[in-house]
Amino acid sequence: MAMENAPIVETHGLSKRFGSGFLAVDGVDMSVRRGEVYGFLGPNGAGKTTTLKMLVGLIGATSGTATVAGHAPGDPAGLAKIGCLIEGPGFYPYLSGRENLRVVADLASVSQRRVDEVLDLIEMTSRAGRKFGTYSTGMKMRIGVAAALLKDPELLILDEPTAGLDPQGMAEMRKLITDIGHGERTVLISSHLLGEVQATCDRVGVISNGKLVRESTVEDLLGDEGVFVRAEPSERANEVLTRMFGPAAVVHENGHFNLKTNPAQSLAINRQLMASGVAVSELRPVERSLEDVFFQLTGDKQGS
Ligand SMILES: Nc1ncnc2c1ncn2[C@@H]1O[C@H](COP(=O)(O)OP(=O)(O)OP(=O)(O)O)[C@@H](O)[C@H]1O
Ligand SMILES: [Mg+2]
Repeated sequence: MAMENAPIVETHGLSKRFGSGFLAVDGVDMSVRRGEVYGFLGPNGAGKTTTLKMLVGLIGATSGTATVAGHAPGDPAGLAKIGCLIEGPGFYPYLSGRENLRVVADLASVSQRRVDEVLDLIEMTSRAGRKFGTYSTGMKMRIGVAAALLKDPELLILDEPTAGLDPQGMAEMRKLITDIGHGERTVLISSHLLGEVQATCDRVGVISNGKLVRESTVEDLLGDEGVFVRAEPSERANEVLTRMFGPAAVVHENGHFNLKTNPAQSLAINRQLMASGVAVSELRPVERSLEDVFFQLTGDKQGS
């Protein structure tokens, strides 16, 4: 069916202006495919939360359109298919985790049995009887995710699900996201943490100053692998490398070369240089980190 292949989230020119001047989200065209884990990546203040709030109808767009789970944002028919956790979990501190979820389940007309199912899913069953107020940040976040999962949503939207977690808590949350994102369900998470996105997401959208500057798979984002070469005499090396790969693929800087070519070419590069009387002192694949790419795209320092 055409619907099945349609993106579960699609926006066109989605924008939000706060007050009279400031454009917090600026013409975002994003597309989240069914069944994927999509990472919405951007530095602090880039417009992630604002975009997610527009998608679930918590705030209205200034201009542009969005379709979420087949409906306009905020449409009850669409909301019935969405679970979301935006800007941290808020629950009754004196009720237990389980009791809090029961309250939410009641409001959402979800069976109480489902409460136990989601507690199991988020591995909180043994701690479900403790007061919410006594939970650690990580446990609170889990209960928040559990609440978002109660309706067994087609689309789960989590805004910074690892905010405030320690490395172990982050690793557990990553595993949880991978588990719940497995199969039919689509997961849209926002983050400013590159490692997290790299570890959990199929595709990413990078947002900077309200603009979506890139949307692709993580591999494509990292793509453009190359080869680092240090060789003497460099004039001669330049000639050989340019002959091999063309001038556009050879970047000569600070006494070394960055070649835009597959590292599988390393052996051939070494042979050609040696055969031309060039001594090679260094030859290795260049691995771009997501961090490099992120800074390149956003021109920004990563928030903590
Ligand atoms: N209600 C509001 N009124 C005015 N400006 C706002 C409002 N909400 C957000 N903003 C501004 O919009 C911009 C985007 O904010 P947003 O919260 O969407 O960023 P973010 O990408 O989620 O950042 P973070 O990583 O810090 O959560 C920021 O400059 C913020 O100050
Ligand atoms: Mg935010």
